[in-house]
Amino acid sequence: MTHPQLSDAAAEEVVRRHAVQGATLMTILHAIQDEAGFVPPEVVAPLARALSLSRAEVHGTITYYHHFRSAPPARVTVQLCRAESCRSLGSEALKDHIEGHTGCHFDSGHAEGTELESVYCLGQCALSPNMTINGELHAKVTPQKFARLYNAASAKVNADSEVTA
Ligand code: FES
Repeated sequence: MTHPQLSDAAAEEVVRRHAVQGATLMTILHAIQDEAGFVPPEVVAPLARALSLSRAEVHGTITYYHHFRSAPPARVTVQLCRAESCRSLGSEALKDHIEGHTGCHFDSGHAEGTELESVYCLGQCALSPNMTINGELHAKVTPQKFARLYNAASAKVNADSEVTA
């Protein structure tokens, strides 16, 4: 998905606001992503200048940590736990169902406004299989429960975008 590029001045302004005395690269990246939903690629150069780092160091940090996004998040993001406990209670079959239901594939970026991500333990193993939809944790997920939750999340996003249009 494409997104509007930040101008040089806007990228400098973002960095100026967050690169305060004592802030580290990680804290700045978290702050930028918390604010914008992602780390715009245009901030890499001004961030490198502000912290006396190379662009490669800044870019490398952003790409090394799975948490950071270089593009806006999808409208509906599903994270499915594929670690041991959830796997033993059906998360792989659930994965196939989710891909069929959404028409998207796990860990391949987003399409049609939906992104499917594999995660490895959501800290709720006793209630496997687990997933999040737009950050909200759901336990003991079945295909039927997924369909209900996903359809509700999609409908909510569509309703919200109609209100703001
Ligand atoms: S293994 Fe899935 S929540 Fe821990």
